[in-house]
Amino acid sequence: MAVTPPATDADRSDAGGRQAWMDARAAVDKQLTARQVMQDAPVIPVIVLSDTTQAVLLAKALVAGGIRMLEVTLRTPQALACIEAIARQVPDAVVGAGTLRSAADAQACSMAGARFAVSPGYTQALGQACSDLGLPLLPGVATGSEIMMAQEAGLSELKFFPAMQAGGPAMLKAWSGPFGDVRFCPTGGVSAANAADFLALPNVVCVGGSWLTPADAVEQGDWSRITALALDACKLVRRAVR
Ligand code: 3PG
Repeated sequence: MAVTPPATDADRSDAGGRQAWMDARAAVDKQLTARQVMQDAPVIPVIVLSDTTQAVLLAKALVAGGIRMLEVTLRTPQALACIEAIARQVPDAVVGAGTLRSAADAQACSMAGARFAVSPGYTQALGQACSDLGLPLLPGVATGSEIMMAQEAGLSELKFFPAMQAGGPAMLKAWSGPFGDVRFCPTGGVSAANAADFLALPNVVCVGGSWLTPADAVEQGDWSRITALALDACKLVRRAVR
């Protein structure tokens, strides 16, 4: 269920209206878990955006292809505005924020309308901020110690990052023994060519990657190509989700 953010900047400056929206969204967000974010589709697209019009059209193209969990990375000055534009204008999408590195990032993303968060690493401060905000977090891990720290905070759905550079499917196989209760979203170097190798593993629920949103397709407004890539991604078979 989507909760529509305030329609105009005027609504936004009305503290009461803004608070009502935040409260309503927090109630909905409580129902969204990191596991649900991972289970929704085989791929979470990792998206870089610098234009709000493109953001809306891109989100619609991905939703048309069956992908609605969208990770918009905080890598451009316009990222928060793009998250807000998608949250307002594409109710069928569930927009999340990526590349969170601080509690302040979590706060800003939540205010913009992000409904889940993804980070390249894990810190207690970030974990606490996301928990306080009711923002499901998929934190990045690349070592056993990082997994144990995330688990101490009650997080068992984790992003394996950077997946190919940090050991690829072989690393996830090695982790499945000691960390059998953890589920991963490998991201970083994952593509249409190797996604199936990850998704065949019992501890991989989905993968993340930028290949669904090629920069040239976004630039040229080639939305049908992006919808086609999303449709292909939805056909990937997952062992962990049947
Ligand atoms: C990232 O943080 O950029 C993601 O890991 C995406 O990596 P990719 O471009 O290799 O898919």
